[in-house]
Amino acid sequence: MTKTADTDHKIHNTLATRWSPYLFAETPVDVNDLQALFEAARWAPSSYNEQPWRFIVGVAGQGDDHQRILDCLAEPNRVWAGRAPVLVLGVVVDQFVPSGTPNKAAEHDLGLAVGNLLVEATVRGLSVHQMIGVDADAAKTEFGVPDSAHVLTAMAIGHADKSGAGEAKYAERDNTTRTRKPLPEFVFGTRFGTSARF
Ligand SMILES: Cc1cc2nc3c(=O)[nH]c(=O)nc-3n(C[C@H](O)[C@H](O)[C@H](O)COP(=O)(O)O)c2cc1C
Repeated sequence: MTKTADTDHKIHNTLATRWSPYLFAETPVDVNDLQALFEAARWAPSSYNEQPWRFIVGVAGQGDDHQRILDCLAEPNRVWAGRAPVLVLGVVVDQFVPSGTPNKAAEHDLGLAVGNLLVEATVRGLSVHQMIGVDADAAKTEFGVPDSAHVLTAMAIGHADKSGAGEAKYAERDNTTRTRKPLPEFVFGTRFGTSARF
């Protein structure tokens, strides 16, 4: 199965072939790969180089962190995400340290770090499915996240299950073609809503 984007302009293959599966194989994620994913996140740019991202990682079969993260996910995500061998919470530190002034770019920068992680994962044959469907308050309490930070997202990481053995509902979703808005709908010039000319 290929989910390669049908792009209007040529882009790097790594970006075109990334996608978010619902069905994960039980194959564990190699520890070197896992370290590399967070190393890639580490080298993302951030406002004032604050690096406001934090990650809480649970690996299936290693203690109960995987289950504790799973328990914090919204019900629709809990159903499929448990099969992924690695679950991660994405946390944002809201203030600059040590000044305490608000960091308006903090959520943006978590996204950049995750973007780096996605590229590294794709190159290594791994898949990531991000989730906003997470009970942020429950996760914050469960993992002792301080008041200066908040839980924003979660990620399921592993190998996409290409065996065709998974639940039909999710297999169907995994087989759909990936679609996007065309450039003129979001790249503007002159005025918001007016397509850029370049
Ligand atoms: C920040 C973020 C939050 C998301 N939250 C969820 C979620 O809670 N549940 C879910 O099934 N998919 C979630 N997704 C996955 C998107 O639905 C998916 O990325 C989008 O449909 C595009 O598909 P693709 O990643 O395969 O190109 C999320 C993606 C992002 C980036």
